[in-house]
Amino acid sequence: MTYKSNVIAAIGATPLLCLRSPAGAPVHAKLELANPFGMKDRVAKQMILTARAQGVLADGGLIVESSSGTMALGVALVGTYLGHEVHIVTDPRMDALTMAKLDALGATLDIVPAMTSGGWQSARLERLRTVMDRHTGAFWPRQYDNPDNPAAYSDLAEEVHEELGRVDVLVGPVGSGGSLCGTARALRRRNPALRVVAVDAVGSAIFGQPDRPERLQSGLGNSLVPANVDFSVIDEVHWLSDREAYAATLELAAQEKVFAGNSSGSAYLVARWLSTQLAPDTSILALFPDRGDRYVETIYNPAYRLAHGITDLTPPREPRRISLTETAQQWSYATLSRDVEYA
Ligand SMILES: Cc1ncc(COP(=O)(O)O)c(C=O)c1O
Repeated sequence: MTYKSNVIAAIGATPLLCLRSPAGAPVHAKLELANPFGMKDRVAKQMILTARAQGVLADGGLIVESSSGTMALGVALVGTYLGHEVHIVTDPRMDALTMAKLDALGATLDIVPAMTSGGWQSARLERLRTVMDRHTGAFWPRQYDNPDNPAAYSDLAEEVHEELGRVDVLVGPVGSGGSLCGTARALRRRNPALRVVAVDAVGSAIFGQPDRPERLQSGLGNSLVPANVDFSVIDEVHWLSDREAYAATLELAAQEKVFAGNSSGSAYLVARWLSTQLAPDTSILALFPDRGDRYVETIYNPAYRLAHGITDLTPPREPRRISLTETAQQWSYATLSRDVEYA
């Protein structure tokens, strides 16, 4: 650990952990959950510092963002530290721990009461536009289409390159697309043959599946298709059901002692399976975005799981291969570009 002169300097340089994967290719996990609040601290830092440097955000100016979790925390951390007012538009699915953290940091919470026909995401965006209209000069980081979101991950790719060298396969959850696509672009500059594997939720619309806004998984998945999802860099996508993602997250804690959120659990399951399908000298990197603390009342709560019919906690063994036009109901994968055959 090196000395940090302030909390913004403490963002990044996260641990890289070699998992106890089954015999097969090694899986390394980038513990973005070890950032002060989570993976999006990097993104908030990049977007807010750029906006200040370009004069888009004046000293003390208002920052408005729509988020139900890690992005809200990152923006609140960096924004309030630099003396900005931070207004977070969210929905009732936000957990109590995140609300308490945002409140403690000094952010304003604005909770939309109901979803619109475009799901929660559209309801939040409508509210956000109303707030922006009322505050001239307010800055909206726009994580879904701001190129500074993916750009924030070139540092992550550099950190991995320095510690691990070549990466052959990158596995990461997709919500805005920033972390997977930004890391992929930066790693591909080092290894043009890098294989990029996206992890999504059954019932998420990002890869053309029918949207199911009632899905339980958070962080990854989306009811809209963000511009920061760059399909041209993604080779393959896996979808996991809520039950499978929860089972994988519990397994990650039990087997690897990493207490994380469901997007890390899903990335873990996919990376672990890939390690059994690929040559032992393949280097696999998985992104783990956030800690498990905010999921103590959901994933880690047996009563909540029971109430949602999640009783079978055995992680599935392998995915079904489907085409991009088929609807995934359980762990399935489809290829987007170069074809791959697993053993
Ligand atoms: C916990 C968690 N996992 C995964 C993601 C997806 O990351 P990205 O938005 O970079 O695609 C997010 C995004 O907010 C998240 O909060």
